[in-house]
Amino acid sequence: MRRTIPGVILLCVWLVPAAGQERLTMAALQEADYMQGKQAFQGRCSACHTLADSSSNIAGPNLWGVFDRVAGSKADFRYSETLEKAGFEWSPDRLDAWLDDPTGYLPGNIMGIPEAVPAADRPAIIHFMLIETGAVDWERPPEAFAVADRSAPPAERWPSFWNHLMFNRVLYRWEDAAAGENFPFEVYFKTDGSAATNQKGMTGFWHITERDFFCYALTGMPVGVGSMVECFPVAAMAIPRFARELWTSNPQAEVKLHGGIQPGRPDWVDAENPAM
Ligand code: HEC
Repeated sequence: MRRTIPGVILLCVWLVPAAGQERLTMAALQEADYMQGKQAFQGRCSACHTLADSSSNIAGPNLWGVFDRVAGSKADFRYSETLEKAGFEWSPDRLDAWLDDPTGYLPGNIMGIPEAVPAADRPAIIHFMLIETGAVDWERPPEAFAVADRSAPPAERWPSFWNHLMFNRVLYRWEDAAAGENFPFEVYFKTDGSAATNQKGMTGFWHITERDFFCYALTGMPVGVGSMVECFPVAAMAIPRFARELWTSNPQAEVKLHGGIQPGRPDWVDAENPAM
């Protein structure tokens, strides 16, 4: 009689996966292909998520330590109510189920990926994420350390990033509720390292760091302390997307900076001095 053997019942609860789910064992996950996972993550996830410890949130939360935390619990990210109330800890199985059914698994979530991640890619993505979010200490394959030719110009190293950011305009909205500031402005990043804006007296410049972060500074701003600096991973721009407000960052305490990209070179960029 089961009821008389609580230990066995407990063991069963522990081992039996949630109804209808295939169990992804750690052994099977460890066998998955890191490079396949890396590529799939870069293509499908990195536009919205960083993985490394202390990296910034983009449109989605930074995922370092995600397999140790309760869903929707990163303090500095604003989740949907659905994720905030989900109440479970992320596990490979949970993530697998979500990526298989991005809207149905957690109805009302705001992750907004357009389609399910193919079954063939999911174990690889999860393998890659387990390593890169610090959940396991599995060895990375040697190819993981192959450095792309760093002497190549950014246009060759990251064509999708380059074409997206250098030839379209970025719309921003600076929002500081406490100071009563709501300041929309546009920036056009030029290939020569400068940044033009549609505001009088406001200019900027940008630089790609050794760790492949795109960093830019704006000065002459009529809000905040008058200038700002911000960096984000180049990989975050891997998926070219256009929208008015795609991400939100915090360049200064209390400030929300909403950003989005719209196609094309704007009229206000000085046609006489295109610097391209
Ligand atoms: C378009 C932007 C976008 C893309 C692309 C995206 N995510 Fe997300 N992700 C989000 C947002 C926004 C949230 C928060 C969802 C919510 O609050 O409902 C999120 C949440 C998550 C969480 C939960 C984090 C937590 O703290 O609970 C995980 C895990 C995750 N995403 C993994 C992925 C993976 C893996 C991919 C690629 C297959 C991916 N995401 C692609 C935007 C994105």
